Amino acid sequence: MDFFQYRDGQLFCEDVAVDDIMAKVGSPVYIYSKATFERHYDALVEAFAELDPIICYSIKSCGNLNIVKLLADRGSGMDAVSGGEVYRAQLAGADMSKVVYAGVGKTDPEIEASIEAGIGWFNIESEAEFENIAAIAEHMGKTANGALRVNPDVYDAKTHAKTTTGKKETKFGVDIERAKRFFQSYGHNKHCRLTAIHLHIGSPIYSPDPYVQAITKALELIDGLRAEGYTVDTIDIGGGYAADYESGKSPAYTAYAEAIVPLLRGKDLQLIIEPGRTISGNAGVLACKVSYIKTGGSKTFAIVDTGMHHLIRPSFYEGFHFAWPTKVSAEHVPDKRAKEMDLPGLKTYDVVGPICETSDTLAHGRALPPLKRGVGLCFFTAGAYGMVMASNYNTMQRPPEILVDGANATVIRRRETYDDLVEQEREVTAV
Ligand SMILES: Cc1ncc(COP(=O)(O)O)c(C=O)c1O
Repeated sequence: MDFFQYRDGQLFCEDVAVDDIMAKVGSPVYIYSKATFERHYDALVEAFAELDPIICYSIKSCGNLNIVKLLADRGSGMDAVSGGEVYRAQLAGADMSKVVYAGVGKTDPEIEASIEAGIGWFNIESEAEFENIAAIAEHMGKTANGALRVNPDVYDAKTHAKTTTGKKETKFGVDIERAKRFFQSYGHNKHCRLTAIHLHIGSPIYSPDPYVQAITKALELIDGLRAEGYTVDTIDIGGGYAADYESGKSPAYTAYAEAIVPLLRGKDLQLIIEPGRTISGNAGVLACKVSYIKTGGSKTFAIVDTGMHHLIRPSFYEGFHFAWPTKVSAEHVPDKRAKEMDLPGLKTYDVVGPICETSDTLAHGRALPPLKRGVGLCFFTAGAYGMVMASNYNTMQRPPEILVDGANATVIRRRETYDDLVEQEREVTAV
């Protein structure tokens, strides 16, 4: 699962106490475990080994350059969704031929830079976009590769409405029924070789079944396209594999692989997968301090020095993050991470941040060991869509990021200063 464990009542990331990191760099702070990133990446490679997939880590989930580099050095390709992410992949030394680039609104400069960088595939989101990419490639005297993003119209009942993408009514991809016509129009284009199918059905997906449904539909499409003489040599099945937000709720990588691999065996297709949170989610935590305890009506609030500006998932997606103090008595060492904890002497809190929004609530009605001002509190499984979605709302600094490797902790992004926050506003120029 991950390398955040309690030892004698104290939370450790690998061999470093979370409280020791906070004592050195202050609070709040994102802390990542290198061994967890590596374990998750390696376990995925192993689970899907029979198909020798290209694993394209989803940079958007946790994009610190040092983390992208860590995974690139391990052989990972990258899933990018902007020119900025393609740039990060380049800076990290990723193999650009293993970079896929999705997103409905790619701009001309982003497309040009990506062709120049030699990325593997553009995930094509519309007819208009295909024509634009092909025209830019022709103008540059280069050839791009395209994977048509199809919308297989499946979804997982547990996926939040804001993160489902595999349904027809989303802005992503083209309806699967339109895919044949797409190939009839563009399948023999010389400037953008359309030889792949891309799917991404949303996230997190807590069961292999929606993947099975989507891949089955895609394979029917590929058979039909091949019968009409089009080359389709690659299938990209996207990301969305769950992280362990709660103990024991997510399928193991082997469960996804056992369902998916037989479908693709012997199909003569290069498999691409785009995991984000399943690699990075459990590899990071957000540690903070309790600033104040106060009551309001029947509620007790624990006000902490972090909030929706640092971890927006609870406010934005109703995302659950297990929260627990960084130091506890023996009876409060958690035996699992769950919404309901069956331990003696717990008190119920709403854990809220300092932002001037009622939605700045990180945990509602959560039973926790008794809290008081100054104690450390940790939000688990915060590695994915944590720091990358953090903002400076209310002119708050974003936290530093620390990468732990065994007994060593390294600052991989320093804490912002107030000067950082106003830097780009100091110089005013005429337009
Ligand atoms: C196209 C695409 N691929 C991969 C991912 C990664 O999803 P996850 O982090 O849930 O694996 C996303 C997430 O939005 C996506 O849009």
